[in-house]
Amino acid sequence: MISFSSADTESALDSLAEKITSNSYIVFLTGAGVSAESGVPTFRSVDGLWEKFKPEELANFNSFIKNPALVQAWYRHRAEIVNNVKPNRGHTAIAHMESKVATCVVITQNVDNLHQRAGSREVIELHGNILRNYCIDCGVQFDGDLLIENGETTLCKCGGLVRPDVVWFGEMLPANSFRIAEKHARKCDLFISVGTSGVVFPAAGLPALAKSSGAFLVEINTEATDLSSLMDVTFQGKSGEILPKLMSLLKS
Ligand code: OAD
Ligand code: ZN
Repeated sequence: MISFSSADTESALDSLAEKITSNSYIVFLTGAGVSAESGVPTFRSVDGLWEKFKPEELANFNSFIKNPALVQAWYRHRAEIVNNVKPNRGHTAIAHMESKVATCVVITQNVDNLHQRAGSREVIELHGNILRNYCIDCGVQFDGDLLIENGETTLCKCGGLVRPDVVWFGEMLPANSFRIAEKHARKCDLFISVGTSGVVFPAAGLPALAKSSGAFLVEINTEATDLSSLMDVTFQGKSGEILPKLMSLLKS
């Protein structure tokens, strides 16, 4: 692994830019860090989302059944944050990459919809989307106007509990999404991991899969991560700064 910081970042970005041609097949794997500059808290930082609650207390099915109002309130709070922020320069740079290369796919662990709002069209949501909800009894997908409030708990018309369409601890990823993500990881020539701590599997296994299939691995993160040692190049810095620089250095 080669690590770069400030002084030589520019020249390292230049050599990365040279690798990117109109024929390139690029996969971005993104995590909460890519949305941090939009004002969406990450999960594991000091002031991150898990600060007040342990993930196992909120982000799992049993907790939801035990205390649906609490879990729903937490997700409502997060959905509100997401609705009140905008995609940042990192999201926009990733969206622009689509017009520069033959194939560009975003595999995201984020549930915030910000890649789509920035204009990315090929987005694989591994962990769902916080803006969608469904009834755990009848399965209907819906938005606010179909909800009936029962005290503090949000219920479907059929009486079933309404949950966010996100993947909780102990739950499987949407099978089709992960299969497609694996296919892209195997086929790409450049795999860029951005703003993820790389500790949640199976998503965190995708870089290794890409590498074993011959891809060049790049990491953009403000800190070293569990994935750093696997990388061919690591850029230490903010995605909203590094990615626009990379885009400005592209030759075509
Ligand atoms: P984490 O909170 O674990 O990691 C965020 C990463 O972003 C850290 O490595 C930070 O160093 C980095 N970071 C912070 N600000 C950044 C910036 N401006 N630019 C670049 N990097 C930055 O979030 P995830 O890796 O996304 O799953 O977490 C993975 C999964 O764990 C989430 O999808 C969620 C959680 O459990 C589910 O809810 C299923
Ligand atoms: Zn229902």
